[in-house]
Amino acid sequence: MNKQWSMFGLALLLLIVITVILLGFMVSVFNPVSWGLIIVLALVPYIHKRIVANRFLEWQDSYSVGIEAIDNDHKKLLNLINQLQTAAHYQTDPQYEREAFDALVDYTKTHFRREEELMQTHGYPAFTAHQGEHTAMIAKVDELMRRYNDKPQDTIEEAVQFLKKWLLNHINGTDQGYSGFLRDKGVK
Ligand SMILES: [Fe+2]
Ligand SMILES: [Fe+2]
Repeated sequence: MNKQWSMFGLALLLLIVITVILLGFMVSVFNPVSWGLIIVLALVPYIHKRIVANRFLEWQDSYSVGIEAIDNDHKKLLNLINQLQTAAHYQTDPQYEREAFDALVDYTKTHFRREEELMQTHGYPAFTAHQGEHTAMIAKVDELMRRYNDKPQDTIEEAVQFLKKWLLNHINGTDQGYSGFLRDKGVK
């Protein structure tokens, strides 16, 4: 179903729900069906927010920086985030969750080293600022990891959302900054 039809379906559903609420109130102002539907409507933004937060990441062509090794790293990072999210949300074996967290952090560090080496080798002018973002991110992840070691249940959700948001913003923002420069230097 395309987006327009989805929006039309949603609008129609909303209209039906509001009509049922109003008809219910015409019968009685204490009509439980009407009040129940009002509560459901009030919860919709909260449920929507949860669904969006839990959505699996999918690679988009617009994420590409035009350098194969880096794109492959970024794709792998998205997969590792999805793996960690699955482990955290579906209450898998705690060992699996820990391994998924470790794997994501390890590969993030490996990827940062690869990017920094490329930027440094080719004299990328914004190298120091870019490296600073990586360093600050690793410091935050190390802090999350320390808290996770003490209280895994209390920390895992914060860690998933932080890693997801940070990596996606970084891939689509700061990393795009070196794309043209490195490709002009012949990096593919
Ligand atoms: Fe990157
Ligand atoms: Fe980066």
